[in-house]
Amino acid sequence: MTLHVIGFSRTSDELTCDGVSLVAIAKAEGTPVYVYSAAMLRQRYRDLDAAFGDYPHAIHYAFKANSTRALVALLKSLGSCVDAVSMWEVEVARAAGFEPRQIVFDGVGKSDVELEHAVDLDLKAINVESAGELARVEAIAARKSAVARIAIRVNPDIDARSHPHISTGLKINKFGIPADDVHALLPTLNGRTSIRLVALHVHVGSQITSMEPIRDAALKLAQLAQHAKDAGVALEYVDAGGGLGISYDGGPVPTFKDYASAFVEALRPTRLPIVVEPGRSIIGPAGVLLARVLDLKPRTATSEFAVIDAGMTELMRPALYNAFHLIEPVCARIGGVRQYELVGPVCESGDVVGRDRMLTPLEVGDLVVIRDAGAYGSVMASNYNRRPLPAEVLVDNGSWRVIRRRQTLADLLALES
Ligand SMILES: Cc1ncc(COP(=O)(O)O)c(C=O)c1O
Repeated sequence: MTLHVIGFSRTSDELTCDGVSLVAIAKAEGTPVYVYSAAMLRQRYRDLDAAFGDYPHAIHYAFKANSTRALVALLKSLGSCVDAVSMWEVEVARAAGFEPRQIVFDGVGKSDVELEHAVDLDLKAINVESAGELARVEAIAARKSAVARIAIRVNPDIDARSHPHISTGLKINKFGIPADDVHALLPTLNGRTSIRLVALHVHVGSQITSMEPIRDAALKLAQLAQHAKDAGVALEYVDAGGGLGISYDGGPVPTFKDYASAFVEALRPTRLPIVVEPGRSIIGPAGVLLARVLDLKPRTATSEFAVIDAGMTELMRPALYNAFHLIEPVCARIGGVRQYELVGPVCESGDVVGRDRMLTPLEVGDLVVIRDAGAYGSVMASNYNRRPLPAEVLVDNGSWRVIRRRQTLADLLALES
């Protein structure tokens, strides 16, 4: 089948996914339900890949953004590798068929059990976040008579200018080793028997919407890579992290080309391959959360509450970060726009999915989509209020299938005695 539309667009009066009816999906699977466009996921991955041109690079998709098996399998088929931030993400990646040498392992608090497992697997790199962690990895590897492949996560003291909860590159943030300390550490890493430094790593934050922090991080990485070379450390690659933002509200954001060019330009003199760890920019726009209006009630003289069946339990970002997601009815009704406060069903006043939205008139039973929910959506869902995790559906080549079923009451009780 030839796809005429990729992603979420209006076909006649109805919002569709790759031309497939969202109304039909909601009818068959119920709501709330996550719906992903395989075509859009492929397109975004390929666009990012192409943006690096012929410069040697590897895309290590960040599982933390969304690691539903069918989605990571699709990315694997396109050539993606993995950025994992827990042993469990490492194991999910292995269950999806990724080799240990396709996995980099991040995270500011890795337990000894996790580190031992990572050393045993001989991952592409354990990205260490402190001198203490470096010492723990070294001791574990020495005990096992192994050589652990490590990367050092540098804290470059760069302001990502993103939400404070997802800015990670400032000195005051808990992540990485300060650049000056890395400078001093590098010459001491030569000739160690139980660790091999294979890369330097930066990740200054997520949802970065301006180029400056990206350029600054790339330059810092290039400087440190040069210093490593001068100190006689032969790096295998540099890891530039993830972080590229997406346009939740229609505002401008850097393109994949801008992002890749900044790294290639800064790092070309090092001649080292570039690893990137994107999550949101690949999968964010490729998913929506589909929900149904449960109730309407007056709010102020000019606005109404629209209570929908998806809230902070299914999509935590609005409650957690005050994040904006575009919300629109699947089938727009005729009539002037009205003001709605779209709220979830959870027993918290903070459970607001969209504030003061001007939408065509809603009626109880109508379907709405919450856009750009592919990243940090289903992965952050919880069972608060004993709400089951929502189903997830993948639309591909004109049809769709359930890639994660909705939790049942039996699932909810399965761990309890
Ligand atoms: C170390 C690391 N790498 C990659 C990512 C993915 O970031 P993003 O989804 O913004 O591309 C994150 C998320 O913040 C991260 O912490």
